Amino acid sequence: MDLGRIINSVHPPQFEENLSSMFDVKPMSGALGAEVVGVNLKTVSEEQAKEIERLLVNHMVVVFRDQHLEASDLSRFGKMLGEPEPHQFWEGSEDYPEVFELYSEGKKAVHYGSNWHTDLTCSEQPPKLSILCGVKIPPTGGDTLFCNLHLAFESLSETYKKMIIDLNGIHKSGFQVDTKSGFNEEGAGDKLKTQTTVTHPLICQHEVTKKNLLLANRIFTKGIEGLSKQESQGILDYLIAHSNRPEFTCRVNWKPGTVTIWDNRATAHYALGDFLGHERLMRRITIKGNKPQRGKLG
Ligand SMILES: [Fe+2]
Repeated sequence: MDLGRIINSVHPPQFEENLSSMFDVKPMSGALGAEVVGVNLKTVSEEQAKEIERLLVNHMVVVFRDQHLEASDLSRFGKMLGEPEPHQFWEGSEDYPEVFELYSEGKKAVHYGSNWHTDLTCSEQPPKLSILCGVKIPPTGGDTLFCNLHLAFESLSETYKKMIIDLNGIHKSGFQVDTKSGFNEEGAGDKLKTQTTVTHPLICQHEVTKKNLLLANRIFTKGIEGLSKQESQGILDYLIAHSNRPEFTCRVNWKPGTVTIWDNRATAHYALGDFLGHERLMRRITIKGNKPQRGKLG
């Protein structure tokens, strides 16, 4: 069957069923993402936080504008969505160790996150959510792309799904200079606390929706258990390129005060480094997740 026909058959409607009675919700693309208007994240209530979580599961990426959260605000809000955890690579702030800052001088086009990845799949329990706040933003460039890993799975042929359902991806945190991923030691290697190698099923099941998704990415997925390097590479190259098709993506344009939360269990993202000559400062908190579970074919 032609891939275009498969994609058409699985592509979701425009999220009409996910609209909120509490906030104004504006979907960002046909695949995922929504801007949420009508909430102040500094004073968010438990009830509002629950609604944000519901929107997050449905839309996978939610964006708020004009929030300007300090580390204390981010810590409070993060704790309403789960258990914040210190980042594996980055030092947190003194008063709020779970909150850390990502600073780019704008001296190179490739930096931390400049390739498709799901955060920290090199750990046994990758984060559930990541919350990122724009503090200092270049006048142009520095957007973040996200992709919907459910669509990536669903748009595979039934035969391909059967072929990979029992396979496990090998995820590593070793940051050798990698010309393919564009990710190098300069970005994080010196801050690396532990080197890890873990395996996760290539097809996982989202713990809330129980929907299958494809878990493989350029930065961390370095092989497939039981296959040779060449055999693994052929499958991974195809799956990762497939999961990042433009039809499966949305794009967040940052402003100072923009807050983006992504469901790290269902998405991958790519931080564009196209802001040479300009600084960028982001503030982030990461919410602890569980070990990904293998998906099931119907
Ligand atoms: Fe990331």
